[in-house]
Amino acid sequence: MKLIKVKNYEELSKKASAFIVETVNQKPNAVIGMATGSTAEGTYEYLVKAFQNDEVSFTEAHSVNLDEYVGLSPENDQSYHAYMDHHLFKHIDMPAENHFIPDGEANDLQDECVRYESRIEELGGVDLQLLGLGHNGHIGFNEPGTSFQSKTQVVDLAESTRKANARFFEVMEEVPDQAITMGIATILKSKRILLLVSGKGKAEILNKLLESEQTESIPATALKEHHDVTIIADADALSLF
Ligand code: GLP
Repeated sequence: MKLIKVKNYEELSKKASAFIVETVNQKPNAVIGMATGSTAEGTYEYLVKAFQNDEVSFTEAHSVNLDEYVGLSPENDQSYHAYMDHHLFKHIDMPAENHFIPDGEANDLQDECVRYESRIEELGGVDLQLLGLGHNGHIGFNEPGTSFQSKTQVVDLAESTRKANARFFEVMEEVPDQAITMGIATILKSKRILLLVSGKGKAEILNKLLESEQTESIPATALKEHHDVTIIADADALSLF
């Protein structure tokens, strides 16, 4: 894993956006794996700026999102569909039919997982997968204990993850207790992976990730077996390293 140390969140966001711009400029029909959560917001802001400055166009590119809550409709403000529209899709020229996000409202969730996994394969796989890091080491919504062989699946969210994400909801009871997420094996099939880590709150888990051997109790350690992973971390996230 290659580690890029940056000063702060601003610099992290700028660098991450530049990675995506470069990928799409080199391969206009690239498939970009998108992440949600606060960490990715700045990256999308810079990506929108790059698009507005004519530095990149997404007309042939595709996006596949890591995850979506079970039971939230795309219109629900807290859904990852709404997040992506708000932060990125409505500002850029990627055709709507090129956006793929798991359907958290599917009647048959297991079927939806199989469909999603094959959709990624039909697209030729993910060229660059963006990832955030959960406080417990989760990637996507793959919580500690998830098999490194897992494919797209329905998962129960850890109570700590529900609490961490409760800030986006009005009350804790509204936070879904399940999600559909790409599995760890799905993530590892991506050609390149970019993990973004920012802030003091992530310092402990980043330190564990960098120092520990591969273990299913820290899902992000699965990334250690991938040949092309870059971590961009800011000084606060690296304060314990
Ligand atoms: C969330 C999401 C992940 C995200 C991670 C970190 O629960 N499912 O995709 O990367 O946890 O989130 P944040 O960037 O808000 O800390």
